[in-house]
Amino acid sequence: MRKNIVAGNWKMNTTLAEGVGLAKDVNEALKNAADVKCDVVICVPFTHLASVAAVIDEKLGLGAENCADHVKGAYTGEVSAPMVASTGAKYVILGHSERRQYYGETSEILKEKVNLALAENLTPIFCIGEVLEERENGSFLDVVTKQIQEALFDLSAEDFGKLILAYEPVWAIGTGKTATAEQAQEMHAHIRGVIAEKYGKEVADNCSILYGGSCKPSNAKELFAKADVDGGLIGGAALDAASFMGIVTAF
Ligand code: 13P
Repeated sequence: MRKNIVAGNWKMNTTLAEGVGLAKDVNEALKNAADVKCDVVICVPFTHLASVAAVIDEKLGLGAENCADHVKGAYTGEVSAPMVASTGAKYVILGHSERRQYYGETSEILKEKVNLALAENLTPIFCIGEVLEERENGSFLDVVTKQIQEALFDLSAEDFGKLILAYEPVWAIGTGKTATAEQAQEMHAHIRGVIAEKYGKEVADNCSILYGGSCKPSNAKELFAKADVDGGLIGGAALDAASFMGIVTAF
């Protein structure tokens, strides 16, 4: 059965000391929270992974925000999936719109990254989502279908079943403008349909599809109440333990 998941994406925020402090705060809050009904993950900068791994409990999942499209070698400045896994991280965000937009990540590149992450038993949190123009011209369902088909449909059903998907409309990221719960549900149901068509209903039903884009404690409940919204990928609100926990406890 699919899981409810709330994952934080810290992006390029926090120094090492700040990040370790935030991870400790989230860990402590999670330990003391009664009745948490979802898996909780924090995805942190590469530089923080090993230090954060050392201060959190098993109950709090740890992930990276990216990994390289090569396994090792002369790729100055890159961090590979085996390196990420060696820190104790279990998850990796791939295909975030900021990576696609600012660092030219294409579906071809993302295909490699997904394969390398899976080879290390890392769970990819694979991001998809349309830009404002595509929302406004009505092509958003097709855009997301294509992103999924191009990067993920070479996977076997077994491997596809290891992924977490995150629908993040680009126009809602960091803008304070959240998709309505109805817009999120429409897209999530569409994504599940696209998966069902390729891999069958069981794989589709078991896939966790998270929503990301200005998700906050004040709107999480309404979003998570939708049948096909299985949690959130949280940017800004993940940088404060109390607001992150406010989203975690929205389930
Ligand atoms: P915000 O929650 O800051 O809008 O960011 C969402 C996001 O990009 C998570 O990956």
